[in-house]
Amino acid sequence: MSPENEATLASFNSEVRPLSSLTIIPATPEQVFESQKRTHDEWGKGQTLEAHLKREANLYQYLISSEPAKFTVWVLVPRDDLQTLDFLCSCETHRHAAIASTNLADRAHDDPSPPSWSPRQVEDVTGYGIASVFTPKRFRRRGYASHMMRLLHHVLAPPSSLSFPVAYWGSPPVIPPGFGSARVSYLYSDVGRKFYASCGPGIEEDGGWIVQSAKSIIWEVDALSRALIVNLGQDSKARMQDRPWRWLDEKALGDVLGLDGVACRDELTQPRQAQRERLGAGKKPNSVCDIA
Ligand SMILES: CC(C)(COP(=O)(O)OP(=O)(O)OC[C@H]1O[C@@H](n2cnc3c(N)ncnc32)[C@H](O)[C@@H]1OP(=O)(O)O)[C@@H](O)C(=O)NCCC(=O)NCCS
Repeated sequence: MSPENEATLASFNSEVRPLSSLTIIPATPEQVFESQKRTHDEWGKGQTLEAHLKREANLYQYLISSEPAKFTVWVLVPRDDLQTLDFLCSCETHRHAAIASTNLADRAHDDPSPPSWSPRQVEDVTGYGIASVFTPKRFRRRGYASHMMRLLHHVLAPPSSLSFPVAYWGSPPVIPPGFGSARVSYLYSDVGRKFYASCGPGIEEDGGWIVQSAKSIIWEVDALSRALIVNLGQDSKARMQDRPWRWLDEKALGDVLGLDGVACRDELTQPRQAQRERLGAGKKPNSVCDIA
């Protein structure tokens, strides 16, 4: 690069662009490729750039579908240079079917019934998983990723549900076809809880993504396999010794996820007491199906 170009790049890089001059858009194919190259340092550790790009390209082919909005890479760009490959930061969204359960009645303070007994409305809604939030080192700590996450609310959610601070951020981003109807979105944070919690839909540093009822289940295959053998009768034990478990194939995995979906819906629609009676029936107290 010539010294002149280097100087231009350096001055651009040290510039902090006003947030109102920026907007969020779905990446062009060239911007998608550039975002895949950029994330090699962070998420391609132990892989050559080539291997990382190959994996990204395979994933991209798998995720991209004819359904608009199912998988999208977003970039934060200057309003006057939408196609730039020098975009400021990027992220991805994955659309999912979701189930929302809303409390229909605010419970009176002196209502002695458990919270799960309040009337609830359960609906099928649109949800988004958010991933791969990334700012290259040269653009970090200038508020770009925070601004992109704040703008993201305004392309995912119905515009009628949020107000947009035009005085600070200029005109709202264009909502591409297929977006603008989300009820929920979620993400997993590698950078703690504060950053995303501060990225709400307005200028205040709150109202963003917060940690809620986090639960994780880890299935340890070896331990499960040993438990399975112990619980089997002698004959079956002999039959299973050679191959005590089997991998789920794609169809079986689909079936298991389908059952899980039904269980999730049940959990939202049934009051807890009913679940306890239904799942606990015929089981020993404290068995895995006993809901405490
Ligand atoms: C996290 C990241 C996207 C932030 O981008 P950015 O454009 O610099 O973000 P902003 O300028 O809007 O905000 C910076 C703030 O993010 C938070 N932050 C950034 N990295 C952080 C980290 N590793 N741990 C905790 N907080 C972090 C800090 O609050 C920081 O403010 P500070 O520098 O004053 O402490 C960027 O650092 C990045 O790409 N990191 C590598 C990839 C990554 O970890 N992505 C997040 C995946 S969940």
